Amino acid sequence: MAQINKLGVIGAGQMGNGIAHVAALAGLDVVLNDVSADRLKSGMATINGNLTRQAAKKIISDEARGQALGHITLTDSLDGLADCDLVIETAIEKEDVKRKIFHDLCAVLKPEAVIASNTSSISITRLAACTDRPERFIGIHFMNPVPLMELVELIRGIATDDTTFESAKEFVRRLGKQVAVSEDFPAFIVNRILLPMINEAIYTLYEGVGNVEAIDAAMKLGAHHPMGPLELADFIGLDICLSIMQVLHEGLADSKYRPCPLLVKYVEAGWLGRKTQRGFYDYRGPKPVPTR
Ligand SMILES: NC(=O)c1ccc[n+]([C@@H]2O[C@H](COP(=O)([O-])OP(=O)(O)OC[C@H]3O[C@@H](n4cnc5c(N)ncnc54)[C@H](O)[C@@H]3O)[C@@H](O)[C@H]2O)c1
Repeated sequence: MAQINKLGVIGAGQMGNGIAHVAALAGLDVVLNDVSADRLKSGMATINGNLTRQAAKKIISDEARGQALGHITLTDSLDGLADCDLVIETAIEKEDVKRKIFHDLCAVLKPEAVIASNTSSISITRLAACTDRPERFIGIHFMNPVPLMELVELIRGIATDDTTFESAKEFVRRLGKQVAVSEDFPAFIVNRILLPMINEAIYTLYEGVGNVEAIDAAMKLGAHHPMGPLELADFIGLDICLSIMQVLHEGLADSKYRPCPLLVKYVEAGWLGRKTQRGFYDYRGPKPVPTR
């Protein structure tokens, strides 16, 4: 079984910086990559802020915080990932973007390295097929926010070999997370169940059954969900929610997965949730205000 000591992470957004955070805390060397210098800077600032909060709450020591920060380096070029043992792609949920990344990555990455995607929904078998190493390609799907959520889904593509699967399992265990194994079907397990629920909440808003506050309060107080579905959609990112629904709709060819037109409209407006400060809530003031 290949030991993973050096990790590359492509994409320094909310998932990428979370993965870098937990891996560095577990003692791995991490190289964080993004096409945007601003995202690299803000990703590192988020990691620093989250580690500092964990230290202030005595979840980790000050020494562990300092060591974790020392394990992370930044690069704006895929060349910087060449000697990584495992590279996890966590760029935006667009298949053409991911394909281009894998094509460019394979040209520079050492041949024995494993490549993983953190995709929420896209076929691992299809992504693996556009690399030079489908047997060393796997889905490692973290949950958001990565430092807090215990679960990681592992998804084997049709060609993924046992060594890669065992290495990925050991890597997840080293991060202190639990594994759920999913077959390679659109959106895997968690999002296959969660996203249609969120989409239905958006239909409930669209049809005027309830307003934003009523829908979120109903599911928090009536179903004991820790967050309302619309609040959760803003947290995940409405562009990500739409992409997952599109993958479910196309991949399973069932109209029950049709993305709500209101979700499409919000994404077209660039109201993507917390990351753009506006979604089903407006986050620009002192407290979130519903936008409908
Ligand atoms: N948001 C969630 O709750 C969640 C949960 C699990 C998995 N995911 C998956 O993780 C991935 C990332 O989601 P996110 O929420 O972190 O998105 P995000 O928008 O916060 O971050 C994406 C990052 O990728 C970068 N990027 C875009 N193209 C790139 C390229 N060619 N090379 C390098 N970096 C590039 C962007 O600059 C951005 O910083 C998606 O595939 C998503 O489906 C998201």
